[in-house]
Amino acid sequence: MIDLWPKEYEKGLIKTANAMGVMTTELSPVALRFIEGSKQAKKPVLDIGSAYGAVTHAALENGATVISCDVSSVHLDILYKTSPKHALHRLALDNSSFPDQTNYESSSLSSILISLVLHFLDGDSVDRGLKKCYDWLEPGGKLFVVVMTPNLSFYQKAWPEYRRNVSLGEKWPGIFNTEGLAPDDIIGYLPSFVHLFDENILVRSVVNAGFQVCDTSFFCYKNFPDKHRTNGQEFIGIVGVK
Ligand SMILES: C[S@@+](CC[C@H](N)C(=O)[O-])C[C@H]1O[C@@H](n2cnc3c(N)ncnc32)[C@H](O)[C@@H]1O
Repeated sequence: MIDLWPKEYEKGLIKTANAMGVMTTELSPVALRFIEGSKQAKKPVLDIGSAYGAVTHAALENGATVISCDVSSVHLDILYKTSPKHALHRLALDNSSFPDQTNYESSSLSSILISLVLHFLDGDSVDRGLKKCYDWLEPGGKLFVVVMTPNLSFYQKAWPEYRRNVSLGEKWPGIFNTEGLAPDDIIGYLPSFVHLFDENILVRSVVNAGFQVCDTSFFCYKNFPDKHRTNGQEFIGIVGVK
């Protein structure tokens, strides 16, 4: 059934159907922790920006009830069709845009993953979204976030401006037009702007939302194409607890 996923265009990377970057077939360290935690989840877990379901499927296999949220109904349709049949009664689809269209009851979720999604939001939406996540989680519930940094090779050009924005006290120093920044073979499937993060900005948002930060870590996917790597700090994962 995974045959229904579009083919990897580079090892481990599948293009989204809506020009919103890629889904990684390799599970990040933070996604693996979300999946592991889903074994014990007493309430549903939420996968925001689930794409074709790489993480959702693994959490379903672990016995969790999973809500897969994505703006793309094409992604959700493929996610549903490729989900393990024995687990479909534990899968709910939410075709809405986080954070403004997405609503759950307070304390109704055990954990939330937001992987490679905050890049599509402006700063106020990031803050508003993380506060909503805090409300939706049960006490002790965990938030798992993965973001890109300007260390990705094609965004490295943005570092000087990023640092300048930080020194000027910009609240959200990492918002850039993708045109002129992303390489030609990627620009066609990216939105017009990208929101990049460093550790300070990400921690600040997570803490402002009310979470206690368990840990943050830099990483790069093992299978990530060499041409996009720089120093092993291309991505940041953060885990927060309510
Ligand atoms: C770059 S892909 C990441 C997919 C997967 N989470 C991963 O880490 O590989 C971003 C996904 O988030 C979805 N998305 C983007 N903005 C969203 C939003 N505001 N609300 C819900 N889904 C969103 C896109 O449709 C896409 O499936």
